[in-house]
Amino acid sequence: MNDHVPLKKLHIKTYGCQMNVYDSERMVDILRPLGYEVSDKAEGADLVLLNTCHIREKAAEKVYSEIGRLREMREEKEARGEGRMTIAVAGCVAQAEGKEIMHRAPAVDLVVGPQAYHQLPELIARTHRSKGERLSADFAPEAKFDALTVDREVSGPAAFLTVQEGCDKFCTFCVVPYTRGAEWSRPVASILDEARGLAAKGVRELTLLGQNVNAYNGLDADGQESTLAKLMYALADIEGIDRLRYTTSHPNDMGQDLIDAHRDLPAMMPYLHLPVQSGSDKILRAMNRKHGRQAYFDLIDRIKAARPDLALSGDFIVGFPGETDKDFEDTLDLIRRVGYASAFSFKYSPRPGTPAAGMPGQVPDDVADARLQTLQALIIEQQQAFKEKLIGQTLDILFDKPGRLAGQAIGRSPYLQSVFVEDAAHLIGQIHKVKIIANSNNSLKGELA
Ligand code: SAH
Ligand code: SF4
Ligand code: F3S
Repeated sequence: MNDHVPLKKLHIKTYGCQMNVYDSERMVDILRPLGYEVSDKAEGADLVLLNTCHIREKAAEKVYSEIGRLREMREEKEARGEGRMTIAVAGCVAQAEGKEIMHRAPAVDLVVGPQAYHQLPELIARTHRSKGERLSADFAPEAKFDALTVDREVSGPAAFLTVQEGCDKFCTFCVVPYTRGAEWSRPVASILDEARGLAAKGVRELTLLGQNVNAYNGLDADGQESTLAKLMYALADIEGIDRLRYTTSHPNDMGQDLIDAHRDLPAMMPYLHLPVQSGSDKILRAMNRKHGRQAYFDLIDRIKAARPDLALSGDFIVGFPGETDKDFEDTLDLIRRVGYASAFSFKYSPRPGTPAAGMPGQVPDDVADARLQTLQALIIEQQQAFKEKLIGQTLDILFDKPGRLAGQAIGRSPYLQSVFVEDAAHLIGQIHKVKIIANSNNSLKGELA
């Protein structure tokens, strides 16, 4: 750390998916050399960064109410003579509504999209010089990753690593193709470099991120297109990297070599997030998911044949335009047949500019609310059943962090549940065998085996 740089406080608030979590970490990494130190509260911060999500209406609206709160904090800070608070909006709302943010929220100094945040140091300096000049920048994933070679700070033995960005699928409900741009994969060498750096700092588990991570096709050292499976093998060879995960996958991009890797590569964790969104063929077609329910069942059979203990998670949308009681029943039936270890479910939110927003048959709110409740109750039931089944089993647990009580440590199971264990604090950062003894609400309880 350079002693001559006065410390400035940076508060960063992250909304949305894991990719935004990764981006926030990298924003901190590039601002650290400028003397920014992370503060867990916005109060008194010199720079507040909102890393936003545009996926559903509520997610986007939260940003505007947050900006209102920040504006008051800024005034108080200035009144105390503590200098200005710079307010920056990053992420997917910045990309989708940059101009509108500037118009609706004049308190914002700077707007920067998800492919341009490597320019933050320069953009902030320019904002300071011209007092309130507001700037925005556009897609350029290659330039971004080239500029992100700065050292990564790690916060524990598990880390996210973005390998692919963007989406060409254009599901009719989704903003991601518009906010993140076209599918683009990082070259293999750049990913391996970042992974080696993380391993050297004690990271044992990597979760590879991409909006369509299993469509990964980055170039290898010979200039040939790689696959996610090949990348997995290369990562597993790195000393210290013991566990690999990846998210989010599209069913149509589940290549045979990736399925085989679930059988052959011990580092691959037996857990897969494989969203299907709906169990109705009619709705799947209207969503432009490009596969039907039977194809999803067949795919799961093939994956389970390769790795019988693999646990599944998914995403579901209820109340998509045109969804009838029968369509919804098909979704419940799909969930019953597949059996999920966990799942996320959402009420359909019409997003401006997406084809579904203008479709006929928009489902009334109360109907969608009731369906969401029914679906969530079924998922909770399955989630609990899955956890109950683990009781009595001995699992490899990667200990992440201390628990609330002295000596306690919290770790994660191969199937991604958190497990807390007494007298295990000395094992943080390591993988150890744990016997699962109880299911307690959101986690499992275990004892060292
Ligand atoms: N690329 C991933 C998902 C990215 S968005 C995939 O294809 O599965 C994460 C989840 O948000 C989606 O899986 C979907 O369930 C949900 N989602 C996206 N747009 C939505 C909308 N307009 N309304 C409600 N949920 C939405
Ligand atoms: Fe959105 Fe569909 Fe792309 Fe997933 S695959 S990011 S849901 S458009
Ligand atoms: Fe949200 Fe953007 Fe992720 S819209 S879900 S933060 S890709």
